[in-house]
Amino acid sequence: MTFSWILYLSALSTAAYASPLNSFEYDYIIVGGGTAGCVLANRLSANPSISVALVEAGPTVFNDSRVLIPSPAGPTWGTELDWNYTTIPQIYANNSILQYHAGRDVGGTSTINGMVYLRPTVDEVGSWSALGNPELSWDSLLPYFKKSEHLQLPTAPNASAKASYEASVHGFVGPVKVGWGNDLNPGEYGQALNTTWQSLGFSWNRDPNTGNNTGLALFPIEKDTVLQIRQDSARSYYLPVMGRPNLHAFTNTTALNVNLDGGKSHHGPQGLVVAKGVNVVLPSGKKQFLRSKQEVILSTGTYRTPGAIYNPSFTLESLTPSYNAKPMTGTLTAADLFGDELDTVAAQLYKDIPSYARTLSEASNGAISIQAQEQILLARANLFFKKNIAIGQYTFQIYGGNRWVTLPLSTENVHSSSDPAKPLLNPNFMQLPWDTLVMQRLFLVLRRILSAPSVQHALGPNATTELSPGYSLVPADASLPQWTSFFQSALAPTWHAVGSAVVYVGSR
Ligand SMILES: Cc1cc2nc3c(=O)[nH]c(=O)nc-3n(C[C@H](O)[C@H](O)[C@H](O)COP(=O)(O)OP(=O)(O)OC[C@H]3O[C@@H](n4cnc5c(N)ncnc54)[C@H](O)[C@@H]3O)c2cc1C
Ligand SMILES: *[C@@H]1O[C@H](CO)[C@@H](O)[C@H](O)[C@H]1NC(C)=O
Ligand SMILES: *[C@@H]1O[C@H](CO)[C@@H](O)[C@H](O)[C@H]1NC(C)=O
Ligand SMILES: *[C@@H]1O[C@H](CO)[C@@H](O)[C@H](O)[C@H]1NC(C)=O
Ligand SMILES: *[C@@H]1O[C@H](CO)[C@@H](O)[C@H](O)[C@H]1NC(C)=O
Ligand SMILES: *[C@@H]1O[C@H](CO)[C@@H](O)[C@H](O)[C@H]1NC(C)=O
Ligand SMILES: *[C@@H]1O[C@H](CO)[C@@H](O)[C@H](O)[C@H]1NC(C)=O
Ligand SMILES: *[C@@H]1O[C@H](CO)[C@@H](O)[C@H](O)[C@H]1NC(C)=O
Ligand SMILES: *[C@@H]1O[C@H](CO)[C@@H](O)[C@H](O)[C@H]1NC(C)=O
Repeated sequence: MTFSWILYLSALSTAAYASPLNSFEYDYIIVGGGTAGCVLANRLSANPSISVALVEAGPTVFNDSRVLIPSPAGPTWGTELDWNYTTIPQIYANNSILQYHAGRDVGGTSTINGMVYLRPTVDEVGSWSALGNPELSWDSLLPYFKKSEHLQLPTAPNASAKASYEASVHGFVGPVKVGWGNDLNPGEYGQALNTTWQSLGFSWNRDPNTGNNTGLALFPIEKDTVLQIRQDSARSYYLPVMGRPNLHAFTNTTALNVNLDGGKSHHGPQGLVVAKGVNVVLPSGKKQFLRSKQEVILSTGTYRTPGAIYNPSFTLESLTPSYNAKPMTGTLTAADLFGDELDTVAAQLYKDIPSYARTLSEASNGAISIQAQEQILLARANLFFKKNIAIGQYTFQIYGGNRWVTLPLSTENVHSSSDPAKPLLNPNFMQLPWDTLVMQRLFLVLRRILSAPSVQHALGPNATTELSPGYSLVPADASLPQWTSFFQSALAPTWHAVGSAVVYVGSR
């Protein structure tokens, strides 16, 4: 008996090794080999008796210089490596249609993004747990932040530029190489920003990844500082394990749909719909059914994964045309932005919550109840006014700064269209007046910073005039409606969508 039991086990594990290439049958099928998909492929296939298929529409790009060369604004944007999504006309922003980039290759959006390595804060994560996810907390996530990270310390001559970090919250042996950029020394402009920022009563933050990101900081990026290349998710998680016999990546392979019990939706033991596998189109053009023995995992990104709802953040044109990023970020709290008006502003937002909740619920066609929206908005308002977390962010560029509302209240929705590659993205930018108010305050503070004499001196004669919006379009004493119409004409997305989705479905 014992003997045959052992034989049976070993036959099973042989089958698991052999199956990926032959039978199109896998324990786990991961749809979307992007940022998250590569991590899942690595972790699940670490157990050699589990077979894993990774299905990715695009190619591998390990040697593509457009991906490799560290860059804050991608040479990949608008190429075959970008899904080229666009929004539907933005009714709160003069019907503008905005570009939404998303990576289409192994590594996904991590191969085309800005590489900025910044974590959420203790209180933001805490608010997720308060909304019904008790297993999520800063303390429960920190071990994974550390496990994934390989922090590379700045070396001479750049170490003198004062990059600082709190060793206890970082990892030093994980797969994701993190380090500071080459232009680390922020020079006269950086020094002037630092002193001006602090003279306005705002703080310097020696490490923005400790769970408190408030203040001005030199931020790290996802980069291999020895090879001087982008450290995307494919490089971190897929490249080192691509030879595993129990992991099969289908690249250039588009998933068409998840097969729910042979095409008919079927309700399993807990009323869950059960996925049997995925229909894909192979590079040859041939259709193929991949059968799952355990689970189908959808990780096709927020815009392509069904059930998504989320808050978009938006940014505005730089004050000047030059994009020469400096590795400084500054974040501010509501207290920083509103000063003496904080209490009045807070009282008004709490008062507006019921009507905001109604607007959001109606915009979702009732998919999210007014009551649920009220809970979400209340959690947000408490973060702003009780926890005093940062709500707006700048990245400082030479001659200017980008700025965005990090926790907008306007809420996006996504619907499918007849063309799966063109989901109907509706970020609803400027849907709720709160976001516009925060953006106005971010601009007012930025004007104070950039007009400080030391900053003006550092910028030099070419940058002493604000190019956009300019004081003639939006004067120093401009009203909120004047700012609003400028925002409507100039806003751009920052592409940091987050969403939720029904992702699970096992076959047992
Ligand atoms: C321009 C830009 C700049 C950004 N900058 C930063 C930054 O500096 N720092 C930061 O932390 N975040 C940044 N972000 C956000 C961050 O990059 C994304 O939130 C994150 O990469 C999303 O990961 P994901 O796994 O959810 O999706 P993705 O990485 O997009 O993965 C989805 C994958 O699914 C594939 N796929 C989709 N449909 C199918 C299908 N039908 N069949 C097969 N495969 C499919 C896609 O090709 C893709 O590879 C930026 C985003 C953008 C767009
Ligand atoms: C995938 O497509 C790219 C072109 O985008 C091509 O260079 C590559 O050879 C293809 N790879 C596979 C495995 O089909
Ligand atoms: C990159 O290209 C070189 C040859 O140009 C090749 O030797 C190497 O294996 C490639 N690396 C990857 C990860 O594909
Ligand atoms: C994105 O647009 C560019 C320019 O039109 C095009 O070359 C590229 O193929 C598009 N990407 C995809 C995935 O279709
Ligand atoms: C240091 O910074 C300079 C530019 O200021 C850059 O050229 C150089 O490569 C950097 N060196 C290191 C070791 O990061
Ligand atoms: C900014 O100022 C703080 C002290 O006020 C200092 O510790 C920090 O090193 C400065 N940062 C830079 C980049 O100069
Ligand atoms: C974050 O740090 C800043 C600056 O040190 C401090 O003023 C603020 O109270 C901290 N916020 C939280 C939520 O701990
Ligand atoms: C300033 O502008 C002039 C004219 O456009 C240009 O020639 C010069 O290079 C600029 N200087 C700097 C430091 O950008
Ligand atoms: C709104 O868009 C129209 C059409 O593109 C344009 O003519 C108009 O100037 C825009 N209005 C503002 C305030 O930007």
